Formats: sequence, C-alpha cells, structure tokens
Amino acid sequence: MKEKFSNVYYDDIGFLTKNLVPGIRVYGEKLVTYNEEEYRAWNPNRSKLASALMLGLTIIPFTPSSKVLYLGSATGTTVSHISDIVSEGMIYCVEFSPRSMRDFIGNAKMRNNLVPILADAKQPIEYAPLLETVDVIYQDIAQVEQAEIVLRNLPFLKKGGHIMLCIKARSIDVTKDPNEMFKKEIETLSQAVDIVEIIDIGQYEKDHSFVVGIKR
Ligand SMILES: C[S@@+](CC[C@H](N)C(=O)[O-])C[C@H]1O[C@@H](n2cnc3c(N)ncnc32)[C@H](O)[C@@H]1O
Repeated sequence: MKEKFSNVYYDDIGFLTKNLVPGIRVYGEKLVTYNEEEYRAWNPNRSKLASALMLGLTIIPFTPSSKVLYLGSATGTTVSHISDIVSEGMIYCVEFSPRSMRDFIGNAKMRNNLVPILADAKQPIEYAPLLETVDVIYQDIAQVEQAEIVLRNLPFLKKGGHIMLCIKARSIDVTKDPNEMFKKEIETLSQAVDIVEIIDIGQYEKDHSFVVGIKR
C-alpha cells in the first residue's frame, strides 16, 4: 500500500483512507488491515472525489489539520473519507434535507471532526455564526446555480484556499449540451477563482465534471 497524498492511500483495490473509527463502516465499504492499521476502501461508484482520483486527479488540498466547508453532505459517504484524511481538522457539513441529515448524524456521531449544519447552502448567512475561515470548500449539490452557490460561500474560504466542485450538467439544464453547461459554470467560478484542474468523471457519474480552483 502506498500513501499517494497526505492520508490518502492506494493499493490494487483502489484508493483507501485510514479508518478514524476502526471496525465501523459508513456505507458498507470494504475494510482492509495493513500493518495492524485499518483502512476503508473508497468506492468510486459512491463518491465523486474517489472517481476523480481514479481518473487521475492530481490535487488533493487536504492536510491532517485542514478545515473544510462541505456543501451537500447527504448521508456522509464522501464526508467520511475526508474526515479520515483531516484527522485533526474540522469539517462543517451543510445539508438541507432533514432526512439525509438524520442519517448523517447517525453516521457522524462517532467522528469528532464533523459539525452537522441543517441549512440551505444558498443562504450562507444562516450558518455564518457557526463557521470559522476554512482551507477548502467542497461542493456537491445538484442545483441550477452550482458555481453561484460556491461564490456565495467564498467569504468563508481563506485567500489561496481551494475549492472542489462537482458539476452536474443535467441539473443546470437538461436540454443543453453538458459541455456548454460545464463551460458556463467554470466561467462563473473564474470571477473569483483560478481553475487549476478539471476532470471529466462521466464514466462514473453521467454528465458530471470535477473542478478544482484556488481563491485569488
Ligand atoms: C449528490 S448528493 C451529495 C452526495 C455527497 N456529497 C457524497 O458524495 O457523499 C447532493 C446533496 O445536496 C443536497 N442539497 C441540494 N441542494 C442543497 C442546498 N441548497 N443546500 C444544502 N444541501 C443541498 C441534497 O439534499 C443532497 O443530499
């Protein structure tokens, strides 16, 4: 097993993270023991970040002490792997579906680096009092104005901090060419962010693109 990025590992079954809560699975993932440490297999069919890694993503901006704002945490599949990576950091997890949040809290209660926030990511003023400045904003929400939501949350990100955005073209306009939708969202983001990597993750998630940028 090799450490590809800080706290992100790779072996012949794919990417893995060291389990912060040994013995506990979050979404039925495979657990692997190596040198007496337990790792969780990171399923690229369940997590767009894992699919981007499988497809050659070269930038993982997380360090063990990173602070992260995660928009669209759902039940916590990808959050749980980022939680393993930022083992001494903190993830502020915004999700507006009470049902998903209930399952998320069930999954998250054993991890002490997660702050669940039931709120609309389009209304950052609602949760601003709960946040500190973060190193990374990660967003995965299927909405019409995906890049616009990142921009609204950008005041929480430190200058030089990273954004990671999963763009779902069909949520923007099902009738339009996905490439046009990706271009439009990237143009919007570029108002405040330098785009440093774009990965087409369509082979795992139809009409999706994964974008990494740095706040100017
Ligand atoms: C594709 S799922 C996220 C999957 C998750 N990121 C993962 O990889 O484990 C998108 C989530 O975004 C949430 N969502 C959509 N619009 C939102 C908004 N305006 N504010 C907060 N959450 C939102 C949905 O309820 C859904 O749970």
